[in-house]
Amino acid sequence: MEGSSGGRDLRLEGVTKAFGPYVAVDEVSLTVPSGSFFALLGPSGCGKTTTLRVVAGLERPTRGRVLLGDEDVTDTRPYKRPVNTVFQSYALFPHLDVFENVAFGLRRRRAGEVRRRVAEALDLVELGHLAKRKPAQLSGGQQQRVALARAVVNRPDVLLLDEPLGALDLKLRRQMQLELKRIQTEVGITFVHVTHDQEEAMTMADTIAVMNAGRIEQLGSPVELYESPASAYVANFLGQSNLLPGTVLERSGGTVVYEAAGARLTMPAQRCRAAGRDVLVGVRPEKVRLSVEGPPPGADSLQDAVVTDAGFTGTSTQYLVRLPSGHELTAFAQNTGIGAVLPVGARVTVSWDPAHAFALDGAQDAAAGVETLDGEPAAPAPATGPAAVPGVAGLTGSPEPPAAATADGRAR
Ligand SMILES: Nc1ncnc2c1ncn2[C@@H]1O[C@H](COP(=O)(O)OP(=O)(O)O)[C@@H](O)[C@H]1O
Ligand SMILES: [Mg+2]
Repeated sequence: MEGSSGGRDLRLEGVTKAFGPYVAVDEVSLTVPSGSFFALLGPSGCGKTTTLRVVAGLERPTRGRVLLGDEDVTDTRPYKRPVNTVFQSYALFPHLDVFENVAFGLRRRRAGEVRRRVAEALDLVELGHLAKRKPAQLSGGQQQRVALARAVVNRPDVLLLDEPLGALDLKLRRQMQLELKRIQTEVGITFVHVTHDQEEAMTMADTIAVMNAGRIEQLGSPVELYESPASAYVANFLGQSNLLPGTVLERSGGTVVYEAAGARLTMPAQRCRAAGRDVLVGVRPEKVRLSVEGPPPGADSLQDAVVTDAGFTGTSTQYLVRLPSGHELTAFAQNTGIGAVLPVGARVTVSWDPAHAFALDGAQDAAAGVETLDGEPAAPAPATGPAAVPGVAGLTGSPEPPAAATADGRAR
């Protein structure tokens, strides 16, 4: 089955949507390349659905334009746009069987070859054998597939998916993520997938736009966003970060020399996004190494740290270590079978490869994006939280972080 997108990119130019005085979407400009899997990621209320509704034509932007290729569709009626939407609620017709649900759009458009095209769409979602069932006789996952087949059968240029897996339980959701990715690859239709689940976005999308309060905070591939976050918000929202306040001492050649937690450290110049002296230095927990003997050669290190928590999760151990400066860092150590789990109270050297550090403008709130991990408010962690250790890292250091799934997801 082939997409009909004919290579037309979806473009948003300065799209703004205000509801009265409230600006839900604020100057959003982005390009979704034809045939790509694009995710709009952000916490509840950040404007994801409104953005999708503008693309679908269900909402008129206050300012800005929506284009498909060179065609301005800002004022095109929803049903005239080559765009279909899959909602979280599926919105299947209860009185129609699976086949007729999928055939609905084709019949309304008086399209030809209904039987073949519906059969093809049902095969794609592996539901051919359930064509005669009514929606009520299907599981949640199966209903989700019908909703998908019903949209894909129309071969839209763009398929919009608004938290389509939100109603499924975790295991089924993981399965459907892989399934959706396979289907997208097979049909080649542009998918714009809205989710508040960072692991879901990372698993499926070619490109992710991280949204924060109506704006695009950063746009890039999952690897770019994860390895080189542009803001504290992105660093905290995608996975976990250790963010330490630091001061740039010297920029020479390709290297930035900085001070953090009382040590003189370095990073490649291109990893430093801050122009000023005050920075937030980030290192992902799985890049942090703890050793009792001293650091490996070539690594940047902080001496005399103490393990304050060790949580063995099977695949890895999540450590919390306190530095002499009072800062706390999280470290993940994979359970490779080499070396024992370090006990609480152990004195260790903390180290990382300088190439794995990144620096952000120090004027930001180091905790931005933390409370919205996984769309849940962060569990209060007074022992390690900002209140107990003002202005320092370790904000993500609760031993049972709300995004525990993140660590697993990352390890896969
Ligand atoms: N029709 C509307 N009238 C007023 N406010 C709205 C309307 N639709 C959405 N909003 C507000 O706009 C903000 C963004 O909403 P939405 O796009 O649904 O966010 P998300 O999908 O990211 O959770 C929310 O604060 C929401 O209350
Ligand atoms: Mg929404």
